[in-house]
Amino acid sequence: MKLWGGRFRKEENKLMEEFNMSFGYDSVLYKKDIEGSLAHVYMQEKCGLLTAKEAEEITKGLDGILKDIESGNLGLDGNYEDIHSFVEINLIERIGEVGKKLHTGRSRNDQVAVDMRLYAKEKTVVMIDLVSNLKSTLKEVAEKNSVMMPGYTHLQRAQVVTFKHHLLAYFSMLDRDEKRLKNALEILDESPLGCGALAGTTHDIDRNITCEKLGFKKPVDNFMDGVSDRDYLLELMSDFSIIMMHLSRLSEELILWSSQEFKFVELDDLYSTGSSIMPQKKNPDGAELIRGKTGRVYGNLFALFTVMKGIPLTYNKDMQEDKEGFFDSAYTLEMCLQIMERMIATLKVNVDNMKNAVTKGFLNATEVADYLVSKGVAFRDAHGIVGNIVIYCEDTGNAIEDLSLEELSEFSDAFTEDIYEFIDYENILQKGIKKNLL
Ligand code: ARG
Repeated sequence: MKLWGGRFRKEENKLMEEFNMSFGYDSVLYKKDIEGSLAHVYMQEKCGLLTAKEAEEITKGLDGILKDIESGNLGLDGNYEDIHSFVEINLIERIGEVGKKLHTGRSRNDQVAVDMRLYAKEKTVVMIDLVSNLKSTLKEVAEKNSVMMPGYTHLQRAQVVTFKHHLLAYFSMLDRDEKRLKNALEILDESPLGCGALAGTTHDIDRNITCEKLGFKKPVDNFMDGVSDRDYLLELMSDFSIIMMHLSRLSEELILWSSQEFKFVELDDLYSTGSSIMPQKKNPDGAELIRGKTGRVYGNLFALFTVMKGIPLTYNKDMQEDKEGFFDSAYTLEMCLQIMERMIATLKVNVDNMKNAVTKGFLNATEVADYLVSKGVAFRDAHGIVGNIVIYCEDTGNAIEDLSLEELSEFSDAFTEDIYEFIDYENILQKGIKKNLL
């Protein structure tokens, strides 16, 4: 069933029909499509394109379709080209001839553009909510765990930090992510309905009415841009990709931390799985899947970039390819944000193992050098002296704080009894600007 065909002498080739169809995936837009149509009918009546009676019949018809879809009485299936055809053909079947007036002053080009914007807006609000929820959980878990852990560079133990500070690094990333999403929402908040196919319409329509009814900030400035702009999807998918990159880094840490090698945290059974052959194993599948799914979110972004790069103004059928990728990215991110939030909320922290990793790792070596500097040694010389001390400790199996003052004095006569207090890990964390770590 088609909305066109008047100008065609032959039936469409079956394979071509299947190739052209988007109903299999754009049916998720049904609510937005009906919402857009309802606003359009409202405007048609206000502008004198429909009588009050006609508008009422069409509105009732559209409401009925929505109700029937939601109650399961009308299945989103059948041989329709796309969701727009599905709604319009069902409307005409339901209310008869008057249904054919719905499409006056509108094209599928501005129709699909408004549907996707409405859908993108709704999804963005959901993502903002989920990001903010994950932020709160990170903060809560961080506040409860101001315990020392090794901080790393090059995945080598570097300096003492706290688990709290480590988690709050992700809070900061997600905070920027949230701002990016809000900004994208602000930019995309313009209504393309009324642009027609590409050049507006000779009917005396009023774009401000549909714009306001649909809750957009303003109508788009340019018709040709309005029907062919997909920047907002690229921008959102870029933002989604950055969020996935952040979630993937955190996942990688959870995977490392929950390994027998680190044993810093234990993931809850709810988000782990076992091995079918190795009974001792508990695998961090939740985190691994998030890390893995980052690939498809990046891929969807690049697919649409590539679709868009060579198409002339205005609408071209290539643009139908914006849908599956965006729907998939949105669904993936929605899942990943929720799973990550649950994994963090249910995480068990192994305080002793983190502390042991600190004390066994010369994580106060930088502070020993700082100590020598405070006693008048130049930093570069102090760095060399401490390097030698570390070698000595490695050879003798000691931590720096285990060495006696006599042993330390072999390396520099600047050492006195106060060194031990200076390089105590708790004291380090309490010091000056480092207090931010607590
Ligand atoms: N299914 C189409 C899409 O997603 C709807 C717009 C069709 N417009 C057209 N001129 N054929 O892009």
